[in-house]
Parts: sequence; C-alpha cells; structure tokens
Amino acid sequence: MHIETDVVHGGQHPDKSTGALSPPIYQTSTFVFRDADHGARLFKGEEKGYIYTRISNPTIELLARKIALLESAEAGLVFSSGLAAIFNVIVAVVRSGENVVSDDTIYGGTFTLFKNVLPRLGIDVVFVDASKTEDLTAAVNEQTRLLFIETPANPTLKIIDIAKCVEVARASNLPLCVDNTFATPYLQRPIELGVDIVVHSATKYFGGHGDIIGGVAVGRQDFIDTLWKGAKDIGASISPFNAWLILRGLKTLAVRMDRHCHNALKIAEFLSQHDKVEKVYYPGLKSHPGHETAKKQMSAFGGMIGFDVKGGKEAGKTLMNSVKLCALAVSLGDVDTLIEHPGSMTHSGYSEEELLECGIKPGFVRLSIGLEHLDDIVEDLKQALDKI
Ligand SMILES: Cc1ncc(COP(=O)(O)O)c(C=O)c1O
Repeated sequence: MHIETDVVHGGQHPDKSTGALSPPIYQTSTFVFRDADHGARLFKGEEKGYIYTRISNPTIELLARKIALLESAEAGLVFSSGLAAIFNVIVAVVRSGENVVSDDTIYGGTFTLFKNVLPRLGIDVVFVDASKTEDLTAAVNEQTRLLFIETPANPTLKIIDIAKCVEVARASNLPLCVDNTFATPYLQRPIELGVDIVVHSATKYFGGHGDIIGGVAVGRQDFIDTLWKGAKDIGASISPFNAWLILRGLKTLAVRMDRHCHNALKIAEFLSQHDKVEKVYYPGLKSHPGHETAKKQMSAFGGMIGFDVKGGKEAGKTLMNSVKLCALAVSLGDVDTLIEHPGSMTHSGYSEEELLECGIKPGFVRLSIGLEHLDDIVEDLKQALDKI
C-alpha cells in the first residue's frame, strides 16, 4: 500500500469483539491472570500475554507496529518521550567505557543528555560534523558502539547524506541510529537506506496537535527485543491514552505533511526576499548546501525553517515579541505555527562557542510552520519583521 493508505489503515483492524473501527484504549495499569500458574508462565515468558502496562499494553503495541510499518522496520517500541527513546537505545547498545559518535547538530535536549548525563554513566559522546564522511570515519575508535545523526537536523536544517553514513557504519561494523523526527517516514525512510535504528519524538508530527509527549524507536526484531528487555526495567512507558492520541494523529500525517511542506517552502521563499532577513535555512531552497542530498533522500523538504535576522539577537527578540498569530513556544510539528530562539531556548545547553561551531548565530530564529492559511502566516511575519 502507499504510505497515505498505511497511515490510515496500517496495522489496524476493527476490534474483534465489538467491531469498533477506532482502536480501544486499554487504559489499565494491570491485567488479571486466569490463575496463579498463568501469571507465573507469563512472567517466565513461557506464554505470551499482558501483565502490566510498563511491560506491554495492546494500545501501545498497536502504535509501535504501525510506526514500524510506516518506517519499513521489522518492529518498534514506544516510550514516554523522544528523549526516553534515545536514552533507552543508547543504554541498550553502549556500556560504560564505550562511546557514541554523534553529529554535532542535534536537538538541544539530546545534546545535554549526550554531554552531561551519559558521561556520568561512563559513556562518552564524540561530536563531529557527520556531513563530512572523513570526520565521521576518523572519530570512530575501538570503543565506539553507535553512530548517531539527525537529518534534517534541529535547528539548522543541516542535511546529512544518510547513504554515506550507512557506508561508514557498515565499514566499521557499527549500528547507525537516525533521528527522523523532522522528516517523518512520509518524507524520508532511513531503514530503506540501510539504517539500523530510527528514533522519533512522537510529540511532534506523529501526534501533530501539540497535546502529547511520546517517543519511539524502530529497527530489527532482535534489536527491539533487546531494547524492550532494558526498557521494561527503566520504566519510561507512555500512557495508553497518549499512545491512542498518536494513533489518531498518524491518520492525518500525510495530509498534514503536504500542507506543512507547501506552507514552509513558500514562507522560506518569502523570508529569502525580505530585507530584514540575512539568511534562510530551508533544504527546499536551491541555496541550501544540502538541497541536492535532501532531494535524493527526501520526497519533500518538511515544515521547519531557520533564519538569521539582521540585527542579531535583539532584532530576533523584537520579531518574536511582535508576532500575533505565530505562538512563541518551543516544540514543533504542531498544527499551530511556532516560533522560538534556539540559542536561548531549545539549544541553551550548547555553549556560545558550541552554537557558533554548529552555525547557530545569535540572531537565528526557528519556525515550525503550521497548517494555517499561508497568507495569514506571511502577514504575521511581515508585520513582526516591520517592527525591527
Ligand atoms: C529532533 C528531536 N529529537 C528528539 C526530541 C526529544 O523529544 P521529546 O521532547 O519528545 O522528548 C526533540 C524535541 O524537540 C527533537 O526535536
């Protein structure tokens, strides 16, 4: 089936006992055993069944299956947040004394997890510019257990050639994990390019409506089995209701992404022409250094835009304080257009030097383009830019 059909039907069937078309929400902590031996058999793994929602739950499993299908993966596991998914992947693969090689431009929360939390567990993260294949190769050493990239990357929309990273991963016999949050499987499917693990903040385009936090990891069945063994004891499970809201959000992923992409390209073009704007970062623009690679590995360019405002941070603040329709808020992938300043907000865990090394200038503003009418978003940005 086409992905437009899979987002609606994939993995889902009417409920066997009632015929309900929408899947039931198994909003329960625990599941009653038939008798004591049944409970013991489930715990020993001698029989399949449900025990406790931290361990497994039918609504959450349905979501995992659906996202795995959309990503062309064998299996998936859903978590309470995107960061929980990333943390669980790391600790499933990397031990104390070993390291991860990561691209330097990643979501700020992932960066602080990598920079501050993992070293306390004895896990080092080596940051490189993974768009330079030689640098990625050179960073790998005897202790490396995982390669990690985001593409398009948060917040600069840097594009990394996934196929080239797969070559490096294969040559060094390491798994490659791609955070596919910005693209979604509607626009980009890393597993089909040879990637081993894909992670998402389901909080974003999957949920789509800005009302839940969730995360997911997909990959080969044996890897997901290992991941589940650790995850059930770490305990970052999503609530069944939130899993259901993501299932509902996924049904409109394709139509939403089409509108996000359409609006974003037009707004990127509008901003590129504006005299208060120094530079626009959008992979759909020919001027973007990753445009050709994005064309190769994505079917369209997504709903996220970055831009440098002339006049630096103060000008950026004036702009953000002047918008009326756009919401001054972090997060992304919502129906609402959101605007934020990564340097002081999502990416405030980066030092000033680290921000500059990743090309995040003081006046860099990030936009998550929503589903409002294009002209209304443009008008709002126009009036706010006029205030600078
Ligand atoms: C690319 C990316 N990955 C991961 C995350 C973390 O996801 P969550 O906020 O659901 O933990 C985010 C959050 O903004 C993100 O933008």
